[in-house]
Amino acid sequence: MSWALLLGLLGALLLLLLLSRRRTRRPGEPPLDLGSIPWLGHALEFGKDAASFLTRMKKKHGDIFTVRVGGRYVTVLLDPHSYDAVVWQPRTKLDFHTYAVFLMERIFDVQLPHSSPGDEKAKMKPTLHRDLQALTDAMYTNLLTVLLGDTTEEAGGWREMGLLDFSYSCLLRAGYLTLYGVEALPRTQESQAQDRAHSADVFHTFRQLDLLLPKLARGSLSVGDKDRACQVKDRLWKLLSPARLATRAHRSRWLESYLLHLEETGVAEAMQARAMVLQLWATQGNMGPAAFWLLLFLLKNPEALAAVRGELEQLLSRAEQPISQMTTLPQKVLDSMPVLDSVLSESLRLTAAPFITREVVVDLALPMADGREFSLRRGDRLLLFPFLSPQKDPEIYTDPEVFKYNRFLNSDGSEKKDFYKDGKRLKSYSLPWGAGHNQCVGKAYAINSIKQFVFLVLGHFELELINPDVEIPEFDLSRYGFGLMQPEHDVPVRYRVRP
Ligand code: HEM
Repeated sequence: MSWALLLGLLGALLLLLLLSRRRTRRPGEPPLDLGSIPWLGHALEFGKDAASFLTRMKKKHGDIFTVRVGGRYVTVLLDPHSYDAVVWQPRTKLDFHTYAVFLMERIFDVQLPHSSPGDEKAKMKPTLHRDLQALTDAMYTNLLTVLLGDTTEEAGGWREMGLLDFSYSCLLRAGYLTLYGVEALPRTQESQAQDRAHSADVFHTFRQLDLLLPKLARGSLSVGDKDRACQVKDRLWKLLSPARLATRAHRSRWLESYLLHLEETGVAEAMQARAMVLQLWATQGNMGPAAFWLLLFLLKNPEALAAVRGELEQLLSRAEQPISQMTTLPQKVLDSMPVLDSVLSESLRLTAAPFITREVVVDLALPMADGREFSLRRGDRLLLFPFLSPQKDPEIYTDPEVFKYNRFLNSDGSEKKDFYKDGKRLKSYSLPWGAGHNQCVGKAYAINSIKQFVFLVLGHFELELINPDVEIPEFDLSRYGFGLMQPEHDVPVRYRVRP
């Protein structure tokens, strides 16, 4: 036997030993479930349908357990009363950046060695909060450009398309124009036509990348997909290059500040373009799918649609101008839509499924709200999945799978905020926007934008399902963890401008 063969055999034996070395549960640790496949553990089931897998594990082990997933040990916490003990922990104990930085690089090829996501967030948050009214006004104008511009080009009559395509393209295009700027100010018919064409190009290119996202994140692209992903990224980097963005008018303060931050931290132009694409996804990847589910639930629930329409008609009857002449929706008006607020909360409860993850930096004790305490091991990962609990928890919500448009309304029409588990009132009863250090910085702007979109669609258009009996589609199961779920397939609708 040659030395090379002998060494090879020894190496294989060592690898086998390492792979089959079993971790055992220490006293005080959560229940441990290794799965049957060495090293991989439960990776396949987890990747295929995380919600079903974690539901099964919860039934078996309760609301805290550790599973092996692709060589990593992940402790899953599903008790919403105990989430606060995790989401506000400092980075020195539970790190919330490592995984984000890993995904940033793997999906978007972004490396920003001299900038920490925490600093970046602290800098960018005020630009979205302080400028909320300006952003909301710009969004209204851009939604009108995209929504009404496209339909006038169709010369009236019904237009057919998929509801996801319609909602996603309108919100992403208007959102892109709002944050990244428009062709020219003051707007002309020609500049608006250019805004429509350019934003449509950005949307269609972005959407191709968006569809590959789960595979990109898991590193499971086929050779063909890899080529496609490279081409699409290349095109997006060109579309969103700093040189190209420099020519745009009415850019948001958010964009100005972010570009300045990148320059100040010494990021090269090519890397700035990549960061711009990452930000396009962070800021625009959820609103379209959220609006899709909301409109679909309304179209499938006539009582809910009538209640929302009734609320909007009341607002319009008190307004000084007819909807055709409105140029903004003041915050005061946006804040007086309790029925639409409830519909939005209910839609997000049913369809928002982000993972909240932390790397365990030091061995530590995790206190649970019921008084139990569990030891967490350094090097493991901690995962909260609010989609299962509180959002789909039958103890908190009766018929949790059913869309009830008034679930978040009290009988006097005010917002319902009291929900209970184990007889105790919940602080957070739905977490579509993340929590603690991971809270979405664009929440207020996103809520305003989605409400404006629904207001404009219902106010300006007749919108109907092509097949009123169509079933609500299943989720694309590969998207658990990334934010809003997307449907397995689109739902055909038709719409036309109200006569
Ligand atoms: C329905 C719409 C939206 C939902 C459900 C949503 C949800 C979320 C969630 C769950 C996170 C945390 C992700 C994580 O850290 O793992 C997040 C982060 C973020 N969101 Fe949103 N988002 C929405 C819209 C927006 C909009 C419109 C903007 C900006 C204009 C925005 C800006 C951001 C940014 C910049 C982050 C990263 C914050 C950080 O550095 O931690 N989001 N969002």
